[in-house]
Amino acid sequence: MDKIRIVGGNELKGTIPISGAKNAALPLMIASLLTEEKLILENVPRLADVALLQRILGNHGVDITTNGKRNGDDPYAGQTLEIDARVIVDTIAPYELVSKMRASFWVVGPLLARMGVAKVSLPGGCAIGTRPVDFHLDALRALGADIEIDAGYVLAKAPRGLTGARIVFPKVSVGATHTALMAAALARGESVIENAAREPEVVDVADCLIKMGARIEGAGTSTIRIEGVPRLKAARHAVLPDRIETGTYAMATAMTGGDVMLAGARPDLLEDALETLRHAGAEIDATNEGIRVRRNGAGILPVEVSTAPYPGFPTDLQAQLMALMTKAKGRSRITETIFENRFMHVQELARLGARIQLDGDTAVVEGVERLTGAPVMATDLRASVSLVIAGLAAEGETMVQRVYHLDRGFEKLEEKLSRCGAEIERISG
Ligand code: EPZ
Repeated sequence: MDKIRIVGGNELKGTIPISGAKNAALPLMIASLLTEEKLILENVPRLADVALLQRILGNHGVDITTNGKRNGDDPYAGQTLEIDARVIVDTIAPYELVSKMRASFWVVGPLLARMGVAKVSLPGGCAIGTRPVDFHLDALRALGADIEIDAGYVLAKAPRGLTGARIVFPKVSVGATHTALMAAALARGESVIENAAREPEVVDVADCLIKMGARIEGAGTSTIRIEGVPRLKAARHAVLPDRIETGTYAMATAMTGGDVMLAGARPDLLEDALETLRHAGAEIDATNEGIRVRRNGAGILPVEVSTAPYPGFPTDLQAQLMALMTKAKGRSRITETIFENRFMHVQELARLGARIQLDGDTAVVEGVERLTGAPVMATDLRASVSLVIAGLAAEGETMVQRVYHLDRGFEKLEEKLSRCGAEIERISG
């Protein structure tokens, strides 16, 4: 298995191109199931999760072609996928595939809406928490589906199609909002989703569905209205930039010091996280090219942060912020409110010399003068990248194992960082 070797201590200086957002690309690819016509997606990141979803959709009969790379192409440009779901040969999503990537459970909404039937494996738990799917199922029931659970599978049926309904989520859920939105797009009549997720990725999916002919209003607010249409059509859509990748490299720069341009990043997608970084002592400027992040020798200041649904501080940046705070001048408090078990990085950061106490859902981080490199590993993607950030500022060598987690969500991570002066390399093995 590949490892990432980092020798810490170098400032980051240069330009990091920001890729398309993984968490928009995945539901956008799934939205292709809603139409017999072609969906063309641009700026799709080259990630293991995208490749896996290509396989999963292929299993349903979806044909996906990717533009090849030509000499002279920008090596960091996203790929274009031409997705053709004209013929759905199978409405079953098996355990072997869904268990590898939770988001593939989301095929249940479009398959049911278009085909009247879907059999999708329950995804099971994962490293960051129990992550149930009850909100997804309740939304589909509200739209008139008959849902049974049998032998680990959700059997969803709506032989006469779905009917518009009012869906009120008890808690904000990104995935359940995607499911409700996609299913309601093809339901008969009007649907209203209340307490909808406001994440930019939901807005991106809604924008694409609108290009496909869906009638949607209010995406980006807590109330989304959808007037169902009988069918959707061909469209072309470019995936928005990845705000979590943006925030991750902004924190890496704040950690090491230096001056980095996050090219193509959109500051409006992560205002809360950028404000937190300003409080921590980073200088952040929005420019025509993207976001410029700098930190001079003045050290990192402690912060108090709670994760929250958008527009709050994202749970997907919590581990990275914690890595940054390990070297702050004082005590930080970081509270995780979205997932109950998303502190797997704490013990690994401690291996580098971090001082972190867990108090229920809050991590109290006592900043230290120096971190020292060590072998580390993590069980999810964001936790893994937090170890990379800590490694970039640790003295000596840090070896991050289980690199496949990083490959799920960060395109060309070691290339992007080494271009800016970091001593980081992948060791195949
Ligand atoms: C999405 O997961 C993201 N995944 C996650 O990113 C992200 O951490 C999360 O949203 C929160 O922002 C993708 O977009 C592919 P939720 P999702 O439903 O949709 C509870 C990453 O690192 N809940 O918004 O699965 C749930 O347990 C990943 O890129 C229910 O109780 O998250 C959690 O406490 C990891 N019942 C809360 O809601 C349900 O039916 C929010 O989860 C659904 C969710």
